Amino acid sequence: MKNFKLITLIGIVAFLSGCYYDNIEDLYPVTNNPNACDTTNVTYTSTMKTFFDNNCAGCHNGSHPSCNLNNYANAQSYVLANGMALYNKVTGATPHNSITLTDCEKKQLRIWITNNAPN
Ligand code: HEC
Repeated sequence: MKNFKLITLIGIVAFLSGCYYDNIEDLYPVTNNPNACDTTNVTYTSTMKTFFDNNCAGCHNGSHPSCNLNNYANAQSYVLANGMALYNKVTGATPHNSITLTDCEKKQLRIWITNNAPN
């Protein structure tokens, strides 16, 4: 009877310790995951230049359309003057010129604007 209790106890412990989520975030912490979204250091140079160049500057590069996003000074001055208007324009229910942004791009854009457009 004593042995039976012991075996049952060992069984329960083994069952509980074997039961954990085998997911990619736990096995490979965010820093080692190439698909992770970096939201810790969102600056123009690190992140937003590529974002604007790829998605916006093809059109927003002169006096029309009104917001010029082809370099840091222009993007920063628009954001400082208009804040979340830029974010809302490209994340709203109606796509702006059929642009679709990833969740990560939206997050980074919001962080960059909230932090007053760091270079
Ligand atoms: C295919 C061309 C095109 C692309 C690409 C484009 N835009 Fe625009 N954008 C326009 C035009 C044209 C307008 C003016 C008409 C309007 O408001 O929709 C405009 C207007 C805007 C405005 C409002 C400007 C104001 O103050 O009146 C913002 C903000 C803006 N775009 C942001 C962006 C951002 C951010 C991106 C990239 C993620 C982007 N646009 C990509 C063509 C484009």
